Amino acid sequence: MHDDNHPDVPAAPYAVNIILHHSNMRRQDHLDTCVRNKVPIVITSVGDPVDVVKAVHGYGGLVLHDVINQRHARKAASAGVDGLILVCAGAGGHAGALSPFAMVGETRRWFDGLLLVGGAISSGRDVLAVRAMGADLAYVGTRFLATLEAHIPMDYKQAVLNAGTEDIVYTDLFSWVHANYLRSSVVEAGVDPDQLPTKEEYGRMREAQKGPVRKLWRDIWSAGQGAACIEDVRPAGDLVVDMLRDYEAARAELAGVSEAVAAA
Ligand SMILES: Cc1cc2nc3c(=O)[nH]c(=O)nc-3n(C[C@H](O)[C@H](O)[C@H](O)COP(=O)(O)O)c2cc1C
Repeated sequence: MHDDNHPDVPAAPYAVNIILHHSNMRRQDHLDTCVRNKVPIVITSVGDPVDVVKAVHGYGGLVLHDVINQRHARKAASAGVDGLILVCAGAGGHAGALSPFAMVGETRRWFDGLLLVGGAISSGRDVLAVRAMGADLAYVGTRFLATLEAHIPMDYKQAVLNAGTEDIVYTDLFSWVHANYLRSSVVEAGVDPDQLPTKEEYGRMREAQKGPVRKLWRDIWSAGQGAACIEDVRPAGDLVVDMLRDYEAARAELAGVSEAVAAA
């Protein structure tokens, strides 16, 4: 596949994310659309990917599945997915709480398919670290919030730039599982991040609240701990080129260190 602006260079394969949770009433429509268009990579999350695997393998596509623990990883592997995305501690959106080192090491013992790691990966150097850990690919989300193309309000991008690791709140208060949120948007929603209410208390708070309802994702903003390493908003294409350069520089630097150690 080629894009119109670069007919001489093949485009990277694209992926579509299907949330399999039963609250996504349109998941079958999403799958049918992917099959009709032979989407090369389908990413599934929160649910059993077995039907997706059957449908996508039918036209030669790949299925990657998001997991935060070994139980989900083994279930997805037995459903026949081609790859596992280990969504580790500090990731944006719905995130796990486990160390990527532990998750990669444990998963590699029994899984020889594609292994991806997500969670606070912000630079080319971080991508190299993921590969050094034994994974195949890095999975980057939060870093792309601070790009010109990200379809989010400017205030959200600014909040990402302002955030340090202590400004990321990990809670299951707003969604069905734990996710990471920008502290400032949690405060804006009238919730004290240092004394989070129970889900019941939060439900009552929302009923009593005056003014427009603060909606999850639209007003309560997600970002991972990697926000702490983001310093600017730039075009996504420039970011990718910079990450590539940074990856190569880090690789050369480590090769130099290895040579110096070997010569010593
Ligand atoms: C604002 C935001 C929204 C996200 N929404 C989804 C989503 O709808 N479905 C999904 O599978 N993952 C979602 N994610 C998680 C990403 O797919 C990925 O696992 C994560 O961003 C990787 O960690 P990082 O943000 O630290 O780079 C979201 C992440 C962010 C930051």
